[in-house]
Amino acid sequence: MTAASAEEKKTAPTITVEIMGKTHQVPEGLTMLQAMWHAGHELTRGAGCLGGICGACPSKYTTKEETKIKTALACQTQVEDGMSFSLVASYYPNRKVVADFTEIKDPKQEIFRLYPETALCRNCDACTQACPKGIDVRSGVWKAAFGDFKEGAALFLSCVMCSLCVPVCIADIAPNQVGLYMRRAQGIFFDQECGHLSARLEEIDRGKFDSEWKRLLSLPDEAILAEPRV
Ligand code: FES
Repeated sequence: MTAASAEEKKTAPTITVEIMGKTHQVPEGLTMLQAMWHAGHELTRGAGCLGGICGACPSKYTTKEETKIKTALACQTQVEDGMSFSLVASYYPNRKVVADFTEIKDPKQEIFRLYPETALCRNCDACTQACPKGIDVRSGVWKAAFGDFKEGAALFLSCVMCSLCVPVCIADIAPNQVGLYMRRAQGIFFDQECGHLSARLEEIDRGKFDSEWKRLLSLPDEAILAEPRV
């Protein structure tokens, strides 16, 4: 670090936040995750893509103005003065059914066997309010129950499986899992087949790219990065 950048860091405006119950001064403009790192937290779980995609960093927080606990992805949420926050349990238990889709005849009925609680939604909307991706989760669950997989799957497209909707459900539904099931079933049973994708998969099965793949695997990292992009 140069003397100038050290000086800059020393004079950067700081704010006061509470991380897992302990007060810290952190530079303003950081995300929750960056603030945790700045405060010396070693995150062996709870940090992944840092881009709001992997769902590894579900968090809860309050602000100076509002004591109501809110949910967020820690890598996507900037800290503010007076905020109190922590990552939630690194994983919320939620029942994930392993389903063999090749055995399923009627996926819209099967959902009531795999996730029978889907039909018990009481419309409280807590799941929607907990979703850091702004998904209308409650509607998605109702669409699953009524067999509207097309719209339901579309609603859940940006779900990152952070599980923040799970502990708030008073009917013990795991909406994220219901959404994932719907997306898979929609793709397998109802969406139109994509001709280009099928043709490419067939080429892969026939081994058309085997030798090129082997060649790539044999290259060192630098050579792979230097490969022309097609
Ligand atoms: S680290 Fe991947 S969503 Fe936050």
